[in-house]
Amino acid sequence: MLGQKEQAPLARFGAVGYVLKAMYADSVQAVKNFHVRDDDVYIVTPRKCGTTWTQEMVWLLMNNLDFETAMKTNLLQRSPYLEVARLVPDDVKKEILKNVDMVENSDHLPSPRCIKSHLTKELLPVQLWTKKPKIIYVAREPKDTAVSFFYHEQLFTSFSGDRDFFFECFYEDIVAYTPLWEHMLDFWKMKDEPNILFNTYEEMKKDLPDVIRRTAKFLGKSITEEQVARLAEHLDFKQMKQNRAVNLEDTLAKIGRTRDDKGEKGFIRKGVVGEGRREMSPEMVARFDERTHRVFNEKVGGCPWKI
Ligand code: A3P
Repeated sequence: MLGQKEQAPLARFGAVGYVLKAMYADSVQAVKNFHVRDDDVYIVTPRKCGTTWTQEMVWLLMNNLDFETAMKTNLLQRSPYLEVARLVPDDVKKEILKNVDMVENSDHLPSPRCIKSHLTKELLPVQLWTKKPKIIYVAREPKDTAVSFFYHEQLFTSFSGDRDFFFECFYEDIVAYTPLWEHMLDFWKMKDEPNILFNTYEEMKKDLPDVIRRTAKFLGKSITEEQVARLAEHLDFKQMKQNRAVNLEDTLAKIGRTRDDKGEKGFIRKGVVGEGRREMSPEMVARFDERTHRVFNEKVGGCPWKI
């Protein structure tokens, strides 16, 4: 990553040239042949779009709102990260993932599985398009995603580069997990398919109970209004920030990073909409907005956000 001293080599994957760490190569190949089950549920998102928030919601909906298990079992273990499970160092795996390894040990995981991936449509398991399990996609406004990503890199890596330079590189698709726009466009085009639910971070912020109801319906789960309220409370930003099963505090402690309780740090960081407009220069705002308009409105005549 840019500005880092110890830089992990990056590589491009697939026709769209999705940027990932080069060491993902074997994993990306294995994921293509991953054995999909009909009752799997996939949470597919670009990075920093509300993946964790959605995973917690979906896992609870799929598991009869078992808050007790959710609070005591790390989300990484309940809802594995498809392309990364194999890459996590053994000591972390033992402690946190309890050796869950999606790709190599997929058959040992009980159904129904709740699986997360940041891969593009093209790189996901081929059986997704034949077996058609349920896929919940989450998108987030690109400027806000880039800002969240910038702070993520500061927290998890030794990234110390300039903020404007990071946004420039993000826009130019030369940092990991880019290009962002094409990732989202592929799923936006499929949003009306019956096995796909397209949610946005902004919708979750605006009306979480509504997103809970819609997601429960998509999953075929009935839920009372009382349960919706209880789940919304559990998923509230402040609750999630304190919840050790989802806030990656243990993982961060392992790499020597600790959360600043008072500040807006930590993996679950600030949780607001519209930060991009405040953190980026007016020129960069204009460039991001122009690309969003060009990729969505001009190509497909619709866009998840008003630009
Ligand atoms: P910010 O960095 O803008 O605060 P992901 O899980 O895909 O990495 O997404 C992380 C982003 O989702 C972070 O955004 C994080 O704070 C936000 N987030 C996580 N849980 C949330 C919640 N309960 N409410 C609002 N935002 C949440």
